[in-house]
Amino acid sequence: MSADGTVTRTVPVTDIAQPKFIHDFAITTHFMVIMDLPLTFDFNNPLKHPVNGESILLKPEIGARLGLLPRTEIGQQALGLDSMNKLKWFDLPSACFVFHVFNAFEVSQTRSATADPEAALPTAVRLLACRMANIDMAIMRDPSYFKDDMVMEVFQFDLDITTGKAAQTTVAKGTYGEFPMVNPRTVSIKSQYGYMASYIPQPGTTWWSGGEFPRVVKIDFDSGKMVGEVAFADCIPRKSADGVVSGGECRFVPKQPSAGAAEDDGYLLTYVHDEAVNISYFVVIDAKNMLPMASVQLPQRVPYGFHTTYLTKTELDVLKGVVST
Ligand SMILES: [Fe+2]
Repeated sequence: MSADGTVTRTVPVTDIAQPKFIHDFAITTHFMVIMDLPLTFDFNNPLKHPVNGESILLKPEIGARLGLLPRTEIGQQALGLDSMNKLKWFDLPSACFVFHVFNAFEVSQTRSATADPEAALPTAVRLLACRMANIDMAIMRDPSYFKDDMVMEVFQFDLDITTGKAAQTTVAKGTYGEFPMVNPRTVSIKSQYGYMASYIPQPGTTWWSGGEFPRVVKIDFDSGKMVGEVAFADCIPRKSADGVVSGGECRFVPKQPSAGAAEDDGYLLTYVHDEAVNISYFVVIDAKNMLPMASVQLPQRVPYGFHTTYLTKTELDVLKGVVST
């Protein structure tokens, strides 16, 4: 799609064997990363699957793979494809499911020491995402379907274009969460930092059935460690006696102007909810130091689970057609 909202290219992806739940994707400079993961739809029996009573079922036995679709001719050349409308697939070492991605980026390599930088072709792609080794939609209505591997972990998936192999590695092991976010200025290129709504697993339950996310965490992908956290309960002026204050996706907004600023120099914006008194707040968190900065009580509840975005007034006016680009 072009910047003015016109669809410029449509590519059918035809070699997926059965309907799949595909929730998100990533882009790099030269590729789109498509996740063909084995969370399947059963359209023949959409209301009641014989295994878990759901229309959506994880079938690990059919395998999992990531596809690179060229966005540019350089991407097509790097993948050795004879058409821009073909994908190169990379089989993953084990089945899994991913709702949302942090980001993806390329590792490029010039073909010789004296080569023109223009001749550099991407040789590898890294996808950063929240991965579940197992998922069962039935846990949303019946927690007895929960299994210990139904946790959401940060993973990096490395696709080696030269060998056609894929590898997957846990990042910030022991940190669990979803609704990943990066500085939007780093989308499609390398991000050092990621942010996500995070929970601490309790025995026999997941965030699906055991409550929402109590905190936001910051991950340094260079060191592979969690480097900061803010409890949503600490973002509001007063919390209820039971202290259940939860939130979700945090939108990163770079400081303005951001030219020359550090990648994490900005703010996290989100909504949090104080359960006991049914009050929602808009909150602002300093992303560099991971400290609460401000909160505004809202006139009504904002439900959990929404995605977020942020537009300046000028950007909003452009979208509304008030001014043209
Ligand atoms: Fe989503």
